[in-house]
Amino acid sequence: MIDPRIFKIELRQGKERTIKSYVLRSNVLDEKGEKTIEESSRYLTYYEEGCTLNSSTLFANDKPFIIEIGFGMGTATVEIAKNRSDANFLGLEVYLDGVVKILKRIKEMDLSNLKVMRFNAVDVLNNLVGDESIDGFHIFFPDPWMKKKHHKRRLMQPSFINLLVSKLKKGGYIYFVTDWVEYADEVLSYFSQTESLYNPYRGFAPHIQWRPETKFERKGIEKEHEVRELWVEKR
Ligand SMILES: C[S@@+](CC[C@H](N)C(=O)[O-])C[C@H]1O[C@@H](n2cnc3c(N)ncnc32)[C@H](O)[C@@H]1O
Repeated sequence: MIDPRIFKIELRQGKERTIKSYVLRSNVLDEKGEKTIEESSRYLTYYEEGCTLNSSTLFANDKPFIIEIGFGMGTATVEIAKNRSDANFLGLEVYLDGVVKILKRIKEMDLSNLKVMRFNAVDVLNNLVGDESIDGFHIFFPDPWMKKKHHKRRLMQPSFINLLVSKLKKGGYIYFVTDWVEYADEVLSYFSQTESLYNPYRGFAPHIQWRPETKFERKGIEKEHEVRELWVEKR
């Protein structure tokens, strides 16, 4: 029997949502998806009012705790977790097929430092994450919402960046990558205007060697898009 909490992905519905950074494509599971969810339940965590997400509550240890927002199919996510056993990772995603896909990979690879939650990251950060408790955020190729009238749907806007900063520990980082140059310039400018953020590269970062290529990155490169990386740390 599937836990019905997998189908609820946000607190406020439709127009009430604060930043409408995603479109819900499908909210049904086929038989294979149900089987994966049932068999991988130990890698899945659900939105529970009153619970706090950190290394101690999710992994019963005190390793650094890193959150990835919008992992898509999760191919890069599992590689990073596999290669960084010194840290714990929580992946947040609303795309159901992506959640099924990553759970299958986590189970196959038997990763003990990566868990997944299917829920709107804005709600999760606002309600389930303590202030100054996060060691790093990974945000790779978030939807660029290209048309000007859709820019308000971009995840990386000042209100969300301030939320990320409030959740970061001192010395914690935000690692943001996009193949949309104008979005990259905008986020660089927001970061530069945020007093509590320090940019060790002053501008865009070089490619951070431990980050594998993501699915959306490959698609962008095929279209000859330029990839921009940003790495900032909390003072
Ligand atoms: C363009 S895809 C990139 C996926 C992946 N990072 C990659 O590079 O292949 C952006 C993903 O972010 C997810 N997303 C957008 N807003 C979100 C939110 N508020 N909470 C959780 N996931 C979100 C979308 O569902 C989508 O799968």
